[in-house]
Amino acid sequence: MCGIYGYIGKLNAYEKVLEGLKLLQYRGYDSCGIAYYGNGFQINKAIGTLDNLEKVDKETKIAFGHTRWATNGAVNINNTHPHVSFDKAFTIVHNGIIKNADSIKDSLIKQDIAFYSDTDTEVIANLLAYLPGKIDNRVKQLFNILEGSYSLIIGYKNGDIYLVKKFSPLNLLQAEDGIYISSDISSLKQGELYTMQDNDIIKISKNSISNITNHQMNFVKHENSIKAYTLGKFKHYMQKEIYETPISIENTYYYLKNQKIRKIFKHYNKFTFIGCGTAYHSCLVGERLFREKLKYEANSELASNYELNKSISRHHLHIIVSQSGETADCIKVAEKIRACHGKLLLITNEPTSTIARMADYLILTKANKELAVASTKTYCCQLFVFAYICHVLKDKNYDINICQFTKILNDYMTNIKVTSLVEKLQSSDKMILIGRDIDYISLLEASLKIREIDYIYTIPMYSGELKHGTLSLIDENSNILALNTSDDIDKLEVVKNEIESRGGSVIFIDKLYRIDKSIDEYYKPIFSIIPFQILSYEIAISKGYNPDMPKNLAKSVTVE
Ligand code: F6R
Repeated sequence: MCGIYGYIGKLNAYEKVLEGLKLLQYRGYDSCGIAYYGNGFQINKAIGTLDNLEKVDKETKIAFGHTRWATNGAVNINNTHPHVSFDKAFTIVHNGIIKNADSIKDSLIKQDIAFYSDTDTEVIANLLAYLPGKIDNRVKQLFNILEGSYSLIIGYKNGDIYLVKKFSPLNLLQAEDGIYISSDISSLKQGELYTMQDNDIIKISKNSISNITNHQMNFVKHENSIKAYTLGKFKHYMQKEIYETPISIENTYYYLKNQKIRKIFKHYNKFTFIGCGTAYHSCLVGERLFREKLKYEANSELASNYELNKSISRHHLHIIVSQSGETADCIKVAEKIRACHGKLLLITNEPTSTIARMADYLILTKANKELAVASTKTYCCQLFVFAYICHVLKDKNYDINICQFTKILNDYMTNIKVTSLVEKLQSSDKMILIGRDIDYISLLEASLKIREIDYIYTIPMYSGELKHGTLSLIDENSNILALNTSDDIDKLEVVKNEIESRGGSVIFIDKLYRIDKSIDEYYKPIFSIIPFQILSYEIAISKGYNPDMPKNLAKSVTVE
């Protein structure tokens, strides 16, 4: 979703900000803008991609910009950031949502202040211009007035910059050539990093940095090659990331091996797994393993639908799974858990994320940055984490021959060829996916991938349920994808006959790609999902869609 990037330093700030915003593109955006300083702040805005922004010839040393993913108000130039106050003194970019923006706006309108956009950001700009007093104090007052989440870069007309953070992330990096600011740590390269804390205000004035809320600023060394941003031999990030699964799992294994897993889990016998979308599907797998293999009490909840039972026992562990650690629905759940003194474990790919800072325990997936909107390698790493943890909890001496495992996985992936399946499926407007038991969970995820990347309606179903209603959809145009990784062949054969006798065709993905029935069942869901990930990617390509940026979707869903 929205991204913020800023630069103050020796180099051409406009160019630096443009470069920085390009690194944030993966989050998804529909318009963009940059403010640059030279005799007050000047602004360039554009609808669509950063390539649509006008070039600026002038050298400028201070600039900041924004990629917008519309939430408050339509996609148009007026709503695009940066926003400027009515007196032109304040120029602002903003990530997050101000919940009481409407009431503040109403009271400002009563003071004859005009608004030109539908955004809550313009409300902040005008509020700052309206408030009396010194500029530092006006910025401080924002914390007393604004409700909601916000990270802000505020440029004052004399060139001073204020960074403000509440709930939404913002980071500052001091590098040799200047100061970099970004809402996304992974876009920052090398230097001394400060991850802003809630209620921080940092003022940058003539290149000097001060925290005017008097919080201590602990800078840490930050090295980041931003290798994740180079495509290499691949055409898209989604493709690259799918094929990075084996190495990501290997890195996750070496990380897990050095964690005291049993120490975390030994206090608990009841587990609630919480997530959204793909992460929720990995929760379902985790829950199942904990319940069936470890005989623990376990359940899964969608974060967006979660009602916390306030009487949490001290043996109850809440496990949030979130690739980004920034998903608003999950943050809300984490807040509730903390408010009730519940214990929280986060499984994430982003160790410095908002939820990571709220959690009692952290377990990482080591998938390196995931840029494509669709989660692929991180999902497989989450599955690996659950499988490995379950094994370790069963047997403290457990180990896996990771080289052998990743070799099997690599060989398996190399042999997945989907061309003829793509030809058969690309013109389908609907698809039914059938399976049983844990395969059904893999199909929930497979269905999500095909819906989000290929825009095809897919229905994942327990195979035995087909005859209880959905069979009426089957005709000679129906393509049914089946998954059967267990030894139980008979039940799906019956369903296959039911479909074929109505003219439909059934393709068994496990047979087509030879999912070896002897693979350790804990790890099998990793093997089950990969053909579907590759298939959804290739169908998107065949239809001319951009798999990295499916329409209407953003990588990190930072609004509820
Ligand atoms: C789908 C996808 C989403 C995310 C969901 C949660 O491919 O990526 O469904 O899984 O938005 O995101 P995180 O894991 O960042 O909390």
